[in-house]
Amino acid sequence: MTGSRAATEPRPADVLVVFGITGDLARVMTFRSLYRLESRGLLDLPVVGVAVDDWPLDRLVERARTSIEATGQQIDEEVFARFAGRLSYVSGDFTDPETYERVAKAVDGAATPVFYLEIPPSLFGRVVDGLAGADLTEHARVVVEKPFGHDLASARELADQLHEHLDESQLFRIDHYLGKMGLEEILHLRFANAILEPLWSRSYLECVQITMAEDFGVDDRGHFYDPVGALRDVVVNHLMQVVAASAMEPPSRGDPATLKDSEAALFRAVVEADPRHYVRGQYEGYRDVAGVAPGSTTETYAALRLEIENWRWAGVPFYLRTGKRLRATQTELRLVFQRPPRLGFGPRGGVVEPNQLIVRLDPSTGIRIVVDAHRADVARLAAPIELDMQFADEGGEGPTPYEVLLQAALSGVSTRFARQDAVEETWRIMQPLLDDPPPVHAYAPGTWGPAAADALTERSGGWRGPWV
Ligand code: BG6
Repeated sequence: MTGSRAATEPRPADVLVVFGITGDLARVMTFRSLYRLESRGLLDLPVVGVAVDDWPLDRLVERARTSIEATGQQIDEEVFARFAGRLSYVSGDFTDPETYERVAKAVDGAATPVFYLEIPPSLFGRVVDGLAGADLTEHARVVVEKPFGHDLASARELADQLHEHLDESQLFRIDHYLGKMGLEEILHLRFANAILEPLWSRSYLECVQITMAEDFGVDDRGHFYDPVGALRDVVVNHLMQVVAASAMEPPSRGDPATLKDSEAALFRAVVEADPRHYVRGQYEGYRDVAGVAPGSTTETYAALRLEIENWRWAGVPFYLRTGKRLRATQTELRLVFQRPPRLGFGPRGGVVEPNQLIVRLDPSTGIRIVVDAHRADVARLAAPIELDMQFADEGGEGPTPYEVLLQAALSGVSTRFARQDAVEETWRIMQPLLDDPPPVHAYAPGTWGPAAADALTERSGGWRGPWV
């Protein structure tokens, strides 16, 4: 590790350098997010793109425009002109020290550069070495994208490489789920409401179910996806963020370190996942996707059970499931309450359904509470009634995750970025599933995944929902 490091009070960035600006992520996410920050008056610095392609600047500007348009975003020409005016471009090979000299020239005079590495993780070490060689790392922040390794050992190796030149406080690891509005909403909902907080525990809950369903397939991402699979792509990171928000204790302060300590404490209480409670699926047709190996056994669906060994959660199973080409696109957190005892009175022989509380994270955000109630309009019938609240109706959906995260990285607020200890804990939890994966079950596209996953939740009354 080198030299003195970031001051305690974050300083706002004065230049943003995007490595890999001609790549996919920039096309799909970054240009639009920066443009939207510009339109909200929140972008106030030069943006330097770096990539190997030998492009003139106007080609980059044109790429920015077509990328933003392709996301469906309406372009306001005045805003776009302001944004385009910030762009400059450095072309160069990431293994060539001269590239970093050119980057140094492009950011000359900047006190707090932010380097955003939209490049394969295998190049992170190389690029950070290059930046350090050009004296660019001392007051920098470095933003990196998942995957943070492909198992526990490689996650540690990657961190060691980055820590050679950077302090942990300078590293901003993006898990875009941390930028989603619904996730912060969960923590707020739990602890800002005295009528809800006590319910989130083993005293009242039968189980917790987290579903991330996608109706689309792997499409043109076969090369990326096939060596990865659902567990590494979204469970170890995105879904574990939902677990943390739904199960951690209230942080005693709002600063990033305290919040992340709370999250890490929760992860430390999660028992290593058991391969006997892990079901893998693959949608029919997946093996025909370009880039997928013939006879691939990569899972496009994963369902598993986690146990949390602490005072609040012992004995409450957390069921996680995710899949591609399922019936709908929907991400939610669902609390299933214990079933009340048989009533000695009333309709349906006194048998009532357990209550449920659902927080929907995607495609829109909202809350649903399912209560059992007597209906006056139907004689002798009680029925589950849904009390719904859509956040969009209560003041809008807010900015997109990448806008939130880029803005936070630029201002130096690290709350919504993953810390290395948490990353390692989540790999520890999943490692037994990686070491000893069960066979993969085929499932038909447009279903809720392989029937084998039903056995997982049987003792808790089965999968519920999702709220589509
Ligand atoms: C990405 C995964 O990290 O998250 C994708 O690589 C997945 O496979 C995506 O589809 C889901 O994100 P969101 O925000 O669209 O739910």
